[in-house]
Amino acid sequence: MKVLIATQKPFAKVAVDGIKEILEGAGHEVALLEKYEGQADLLKAVADAQALIIRSDKVTPEVLAAAPQLKIVVRAGAGVDNVDLEAATKHGVVVMNTPGQNSNAVAELAVAMMIYMSRGQFTPATGTEIQGKTLGIQAFGNVGRLVGKKAEALGMKVKAIDPFLPAEKIIEGGAEPVESVEALYSGSDFVSVHIPATPQTVGSIGYDLISSMPKGATLVNTARKEVIDEAGLEKALEERQDLKYITDVAPDNYAALKEKFGVRIFATPKKMGAQTAEANINAGLAAARQIVDFFATGNTRFQVNK
Ligand code: 3PG
Repeated sequence: MKVLIATQKPFAKVAVDGIKEILEGAGHEVALLEKYEGQADLLKAVADAQALIIRSDKVTPEVLAAAPQLKIVVRAGAGVDNVDLEAATKHGVVVMNTPGQNSNAVAELAVAMMIYMSRGQFTPATGTEIQGKTLGIQAFGNVGRLVGKKAEALGMKVKAIDPFLPAEKIIEGGAEPVESVEALYSGSDFVSVHIPATPQTVGSIGYDLISSMPKGATLVNTARKEVIDEAGLEKALEERQDLKYITDVAPDNYAALKEKFGVRIFATPKKMGAQTAEANINAGLAAARQIVDFFATGNTRFQVNK
C-alpha cells in the first residue's frame, strides 16, 4: 500500500525515519509531503495514496474526494477537529488518532506557560511563584492528568472537571473534583484548558468564565484557539488589569491584543505543544504501527469515526 505522510509542520527526522522503517518493513511504500504551502499540493499527493498520516493538516471533503484509493487516515496526535469525520465515513475511510502519545509534551508546555506568565514573561519585574497556588484543569484526559501530576509535584493545589469522568476518577487521578466549570474558574489562580474543539465547545470560554477568575489569575490554553470566545477574552482583559492569558497558537487578533495587554498576554508563533522529538517519535511511530496493523489484521481500535 502507498502511505503518504503529509505534514505542514514536519515531524523530526528521527521520527520520519522510524515511521518509514516500520511501514517499509511491512512492505508498504512511503511518500513524504512536508511543509506544503496550500491544499493543492495535498490534493495532488493523495491521489494514489491508500493511507495518510497527518498532524494538524486539514482533511476536508475535497481531500477525500481527491483520494479515491484512501482507506485510512491516522492523525498522529489527539485532536481530530482538522478531519471532516462525516465526510471520511461517507467515503468509507477509517480515521484514527494516537491518543496519549504526545500528551507529555503538551503537559510540559502547560506547566512552562504557567511559570513564564508568573515571571512576567521573563522580564526583571517581580513575579510570583506557582507553589501554593490553585490550578484548575478543564478536562481531565491524557494531557490534563499529566498537567495535574506535574503541578502537584511543584506544590500546587489541583482541581479538575471533566464532563465524561465521574468524581471518583478525578480523585483517582490525584485532583479534587469541582461541581461545575463556573466553580473551576472562580476558584483557580490558573486554569489549564484541555477540551477538544467540537461544536459544543467552540467559543465556550468567554467573558463570564474569564472575568470570574480570582485576582491575578492566568488562563492557559494548550488546547485549541477556537474554544475561546476572543471578544469575551478581550473584554475581560480590558476590565481586569490583573488577568493574564497564554496560548499555544495565537488568537485571530493577536497583534492588537499584544499591543493592548503587553506582558499579560502571550501566544506561541506556531502550535508547539507536541513539537518535541519524543512526541514526534511516539505519535509518528504509533501512527505507522496502527496502519500496518489495520492492513494486516483489520484492527480499528483507535478509530474515531465509528
Ligand atoms: C494534538 O491534537 O495532538 C496536538 O494539538 C498536536 O498537534 P500537532 O501535531 O499539529 O502539533
